[in-house]
Amino acid sequence: MIYADYNGSAPLLPCVKEYLKKRIDSDLYANPNAIHSMGQKIHSGIEKCRDVIAHAVGCYPDQIIFNSGSSEGISQILFSCLEYAPSTKKMIVTSSIEHAVIPSALKYYEERRGFKIEKVHVNQNGLIDLDSLKKILSQHQSSIALVTIMAANNETGVIQPINEISKLCQEHGILFFSDTTQVIGKGTFHFNEMGLDFAVCSGHKVGALSGSGFVIAKDPTLLKPYIFGSHQEKGLRGGTQHYLGIETLAIALDDFIKNEKRLKQLLEARQEFESKLKNQLPLTHIIGGNALRLPGTSLISYPGIHGQAIQIELESNNIFVTTSAACSDNQPETSHVLKAMGIGDEVGRGVIRLSLSHHQQMADYHEILCALVSAIKKLEKIKSF
Ligand SMILES: Cc1ncc(COP(=O)(O)O)c(C=O)c1O
Repeated sequence: MIYADYNGSAPLLPCVKEYLKKRIDSDLYANPNAIHSMGQKIHSGIEKCRDVIAHAVGCYPDQIIFNSGSSEGISQILFSCLEYAPSTKKMIVTSSIEHAVIPSALKYYEERRGFKIEKVHVNQNGLIDLDSLKKILSQHQSSIALVTIMAANNETGVIQPINEISKLCQEHGILFFSDTTQVIGKGTFHFNEMGLDFAVCSGHKVGALSGSGFVIAKDPTLLKPYIFGSHQEKGLRGGTQHYLGIETLAIALDDFIKNEKRLKQLLEARQEFESKLKNQLPLTHIIGGNALRLPGTSLISYPGIHGQAIQIELESNNIFVTTSAACSDNQPETSHVLKAMGIGDEVGRGVIRLSLSHHQQMADYHEILCALVSAIKKLEKIKSF
């Protein structure tokens, strides 16, 4: 079996599984906010995890606020920056390729809170237009409440020039949030060096337990509680902490930095795979092919062949891929990300997404190549559209 849907969700890392097997038998379960020694033991475990994670993502421990994952983190950041913005700041700058969480939340702020949304467009490689961002920031500097532009796209894997965007926002004194869900645990990331104001992480994208995650805030006093509760997470996130999830986050991210050098091997294997695929099937499109991408992500299309047909063929070979983002897999339409890149239905409806991890065998790419080429050749004879 080859699992190639790491951008959708990563299976538990082997080290996380090993940890959990022992942890479950440990009988150390209690409310981390209780004053008895069992609660305190779990509480101090959470703080140790915060230290480990801070080291792995390049921030200070008190900049991390644990939660249930990126959708919650994004919602809290937008709530904090928009609901509490001065009345003169009524503009939000975003891109046309964000994950669905962002546009659906922004729609609320536009319709119910009177914000104006300004979208920065992307070029055919999926990279945002920095000149147009510069222009928007200069023209509307005093009315912008927040810039929110993702770090790496979940469908294409294309990585945005985040350091440049941070610098521009800093020069204009504007808060910058980057949705880093796909970068943390998959690519190079250092919160404080990148100059971000806010970032997010989901445990299930990094091989930790689903339902765990965190926000990183340069200045945590800018965050407001979005889920109300007692004093958990310094009053910034109510609810009893998901301590098992937090423990797995620390194990997974510590493992990531110890194995970070394997990203280079993964990138080389992906490049070789893509070039062999193009050699054998020259009509193949590699979307965002000329841009810097997450090392293990390829979004591939073959004109006239439906992505779902390829996905089914691959699954019959025990290879698991998706047709775009896992949450929109059932929509046989060209995604908003691909439309924003100027890609039409002929290519857009044919996409399959491969997303591999640096823990995989590089030989997996060879197996995928053989299965993919034979699937496309077979389906070409019975073109679906
Ligand atoms: C870029 C990006 N942002 C946000 C999310 C939402 O993450 P979650 O579903 O873990 O809350 C995802 C999940 O696919 C994602 O890829």
